[in-house]
This record gives sequence, structure tokens and C-alpha cells, in this order.
Amino acid sequence: MSDEHDTPEGVNEEVVKMVGDWGGYVEAKLGFRNHWYPVRFSKELAEGEILTVTVLGEQMIMRRIDGKVYAIRDRCLHRGVPLSRKPDCYTKDTITCWYHGYTYRFQTGELVNILAAPDSRLIGKRKIQSFPVEEAQGLIFVFIGDMSPTPPLSQDVPPGFLDEDLMVLGKHRDVNSNWRLGAENGFDTLHIFIHKDTTLRHYRDFNFPIGHTALPGAITLVEDPEGPKGVEDDFSKHNPIWDGLIDGNVVIRGPRSNNVEGTSASVGTSIWLPGVLKVNSFPAPGLTQFEWYVPIDESRHIYVQTIGCKVETEEDRIDFAHNFETTWKPHGLDGFNGDDIWAREVTEPFYQDDYGWVDEMLCEPDSSILAWRRLASRANRGIQKRKDLR
Ligand code: FES
Ligand SMILES: [Fe+2]
Repeated sequence: MSDEHDTPEGVNEEVVKMVGDWGGYVEAKLGFRNHWYPVRFSKELAEGEILTVTVLGEQMIMRRIDGKVYAIRDRCLHRGVPLSRKPDCYTKDTITCWYHGYTYRFQTGELVNILAAPDSRLIGKRKIQSFPVEEAQGLIFVFIGDMSPTPPLSQDVPPGFLDEDLMVLGKHRDVNSNWRLGAENGFDTLHIFIHKDTTLRHYRDFNFPIGHTALPGAITLVEDPEGPKGVEDDFSKHNPIWDGLIDGNVVIRGPRSNNVEGTSASVGTSIWLPGVLKVNSFPAPGLTQFEWYVPIDESRHIYVQTIGCKVETEEDRIDFAHNFETTWKPHGLDGFNGDDIWAREVTEPFYQDDYGWVDEMLCEPDSSILAWRRLASRANRGIQKRKDLR
């Protein structure tokens, strides 16, 4: 954890002090360190191929070798150039810097040779930074940090995500906002207002209030030391608002269906460290949306959107794959969440210099967001700083 003398570069120290018990969250502009993050789908990296991604400010180069994915920092030890600028891979498990021939092993990061200076004393004695990688549910997860031993992936994903009978499909895209604006947009119960015109309503029956507020008992903090840490919000314990009034006249009305029960389009959400949302019974009953807001740098995040469906048979898998492509991807992940992306990008300038964290004027339903900021501040494994990239 950080103290006041160690505020990360680029974060306003005055604001960190002003927010009190969630200063760590304000400091985490570049994300929380020592956590697992999904960076790409497994199918995007075939055997022998190379991929470059930037996560929490770290640019890394990945390769799949004999089925397993390895990731090393994309920066030559010699003069700091990106190896990915022209990847020279003369053997399947090494990469040679295109500039002067420093050669690294993907599995360990070890400097195994300098092709242009084969007698150098550095050979076998230096390492480029390497990152633990795991694949689960069709996603490639990378651990950003230096904690040893590495905590299990199961502590950094929402409950249920790793279930064996869950089939997961999804997509990812880059969004021009800080990752926290993504996390808060997803968990924010009041923001259902932005989705009032969503096309998703044509593909399922739902009750869709214009807003809803947590009643006592709706919010639960989950902080089991052996499991994921997060905040759960149960929408069955919410007070929905159906009619929007101005001067006593109804100007907008949230649709209600006689065919379905429930307060909202989903039955509840939860947000987990290091920044992943679970939306229960969404985009339709029987489905669960899991989405990550993976920091790229201080002002961008990878939005990793997935939908999980319990499957038993091959027919179930085919059905879900079909419905995903024809309905849930275009009208959920693209249409419905397109509103969210737009909102995050428009919110970004207000928070960019950090004063947004004290100038914002939250109201009662935003209490769940404050619960998340506090939990994230006390339960994270570290704060990523620019100096960690050196
Ligand atoms: S900069 Fe890479 S070998 Fe010189
Ligand atoms: Fe949303």
C-alpha cells in the first residue's frame, strides 16, 4: 500500500488526502498491481504467433510455444527498443532483438545469446522481465506484478466464472477512459437511465425502471481471504423508480412486463478486484455477463466483454454460439454496452486531473460505488506506478 510520501507519479496528492478512506483507489490510476488480468482471447494467439499488448503501462510481447503462452516485457535490455518493432524469431522459443542481436528465451526472459557479440559476459546472467500467464474459459490472463508465489487466478475472477459447465464467449475493444470509470459505469445502479432506448428491449421481455436505489441489506461486502474480493448488489432489495416526473407530470416511463418479475433488467450485479463486473441473469435469464476493465495506461482500458452460459450438451453449445452471434453480441455487447462506452469516454475529462474525485456530487444510490472504492482501497495487492515500468 502507498503512504502519503509515495503517491504515484501523475496522481494528485492533495486529492488522495481529501478522499480519506479510499485514497488507494485514487492512487490506482494505472491499476492495481499483483493481480491477474485478461488481455486477449485464446483464439487470437495461434501456435508460433506473436502478439503485443499493453497492460497497466507494461508493453509485453507474447508467443504461443507448444500450446502454452509466454509473455516478456517488450523492451530490449541493451538500448531499450521494442522487440516487437521487427520480431526476429530464429528458433521457436527465442526472440532476437533486430538491432544488435540480444536474444531472449520466451519461457524465462533469460538473455541466452548476443548474436553479434557471442562472448559477452552478460549472456546467461541477465533476464528481461517475464510475466506469469494462464488460460481459462478461452481467455489469456497475465499476472502483472512481482508477488511470489503468484496468487491463484481463482482469487481474481468473479465467483462462478471458472465453472466447468460454463461456456464463455465474448469480445474486447479499447475504450478511451480510465479503467475506474469503466468499473463504476458497470456497477452504477442509477445509470440504467442511459439504457432507456436500448434495442435490447426488442429481444427479450424485461422490466426496466428509469433508476433504482439499494435498500438496507442489498449491498454485501465479500472479503474472504482465500477468495475473490468484491461488492455484491442484490436488485431484489432495491426501490425502483418507474415514472420520471417534471413539475408533477410524467415525462418518461420505464417499461414493465406482465410476463416477468423483478426490479430491473438483471437481478443483481457485483464488482470484484482487480476490476471485473458480474451481471446476473443478463443479457437474458440463464446468462451471466462478466466484463473486465483492464488498464492500458492512465486514460485507456481494454473492455473485455464476455457472456457465460451453462451448457450440458453439444446442442446447448451450438445454440448458445448461435444466439451469441445473432442476438447477444449485436444487441448486448455492441448495442447496450455501446451506450456505456460512450458515457465513459465523455466522463474521462472530468476525472483526468483527479479533481473529479472530489468535485463530483454523488447522490444516495451511489453508495454502492463508494462501498466498492473503499473495498478496492483496502483489499488490493498493490498499486501500479510508473516506476514499476523501469
Ligand atoms: S537494442 Fe536490442 S540488441 Fe541493441
Ligand atoms: Fe450499462
